Amino acid sequence: VSMQTAQAQRPKPNYDEAKVPQYKLPAVLKTSDGRKVDSAELWWKVRRPEILHLFESEVYGKSPAPPENILFEVISQKNDALHGKAIRKEVSVFFSGKKEEPRMDLLIYLPAKATKPVPVFMGLNFYGNHTIANDPEITLSTKWMRANKAKAIVNHRATEKSRGTSASRWAIDEILDRGYGLVAIYCGDIDPDYDDGFQNGIHPLFNKAGQKKPAADEWGTIAAWAWGLSRAMDYLETDDQIDQKHVALIGHSRLGKTSLWAGAQDQRFALVISNNSGCGGAALSRRRFGETLNVINNAFPHWFCDNFNKYIDKEEQLPVDQHMLVSLIAPRPVYVASAVEDRWADPRGEFLSVLNAEPVYKLLGTSGFGAKQMPEVNQPVQQQMGYHIRTGKHDVIDYDWKQYLDFADRHFRGS
Ligand code: GCU
Repeated sequence: VSMQTAQAQRPKPNYDEAKVPQYKLPAVLKTSDGRKVDSAELWWKVRRPEILHLFESEVYGKSPAPPENILFEVISQKNDALHGKAIRKEVSVFFSGKKEEPRMDLLIYLPAKATKPVPVFMGLNFYGNHTIANDPEITLSTKWMRANKAKAIVNHRATEKSRGTSASRWAIDEILDRGYGLVAIYCGDIDPDYDDGFQNGIHPLFNKAGQKKPAADEWGTIAAWAWGLSRAMDYLETDDQIDQKHVALIGHSRLGKTSLWAGAQDQRFALVISNNSGCGGAALSRRRFGETLNVINNAFPHWFCDNFNKYIDKEEQLPVDQHMLVSLIAPRPVYVASAVEDRWADPRGEFLSVLNAEPVYKLLGTSGFGAKQMPEVNQPVQQQMGYHIRTGKHDVIDYDWKQYLDFADRHFRGS
């Protein structure tokens, strides 16, 4: 699709429920050759692989197999960080097996008092690990960042003043007090968030001979970020301070789209949280409410694979919709959260994805969702699937973390 044409035709966002087009969702429990999926076996053997393949080839792009020589190096460890409250580790992951770029850095906090391996939340962040906590000892990222005055980014680089500027999004005290750890990674370590034709970040490492950029069905930036989360999981599996069976993924917005796609592909993630992920995340594309395929693919041409452009203004032709992405996480617990003022992300569309994925959760023998209609504001619903819509804006706040911690307690600790 030529950018100019698509841009010229870009419609105004619709925020009127009455103007949501009539649509029919693709059936999640019917195979491509028309069979009704009425057993777990048919789901695992036929339908789930079909859906996974469609998201790979038409939406996010197919990612490469894990590299053979991945290298992990613990670069710092302190057992009395955050005034004695936390163990803090920084671990570098070298994707090529050599101590050179591309490299991603994991920042890990664990409760200092832990006497056995701890469950953790793991999430990517927008502006570097040094932004997520008020801890002056975190290594300051030197990588490229998107321009942002509030984050004290100067010439696309972090400065000392950038420290702690995203701390409100990470409830670190609450997480540690409740016995969980946190693993943070700057998304730009895996792939910088701008459209450069995939010359930087992780993509070039996997080009075949003569290949200059990913093919139309190969990984874009969201898929690269998701792949990076799986590589972080490869490291966690080697760390005996971490309870590897209880790793929860969390992501906000573009990084919530990413946590869903990572959780869909990699079943080692025990629980998946999408915070305000919107278009290309939890929200149904066919509703065309708020952000649409047209807008997202033009504003962020690098996020999805090129095949996704085929469905701009033709959402009804998509062989999948985002409820099917949620269904790929079944039977593992999944939580989707919306915010009232975040209409751009289509809260109702996010809710409907959970609701329409529930039949798969039920087929696989779980309690499912437990809501038939959108719950009231600030009234979370939590069973195997969780959802809330809270007051306020597009953000991650303590209220959201409170629900995620309760949800993790329920599923990881049976309380
Ligand atoms: C933009 C984009 C959204 C995205 C959001 C974010 O608003 O249109 O799709 O979720 O940025 O990542 O904050």
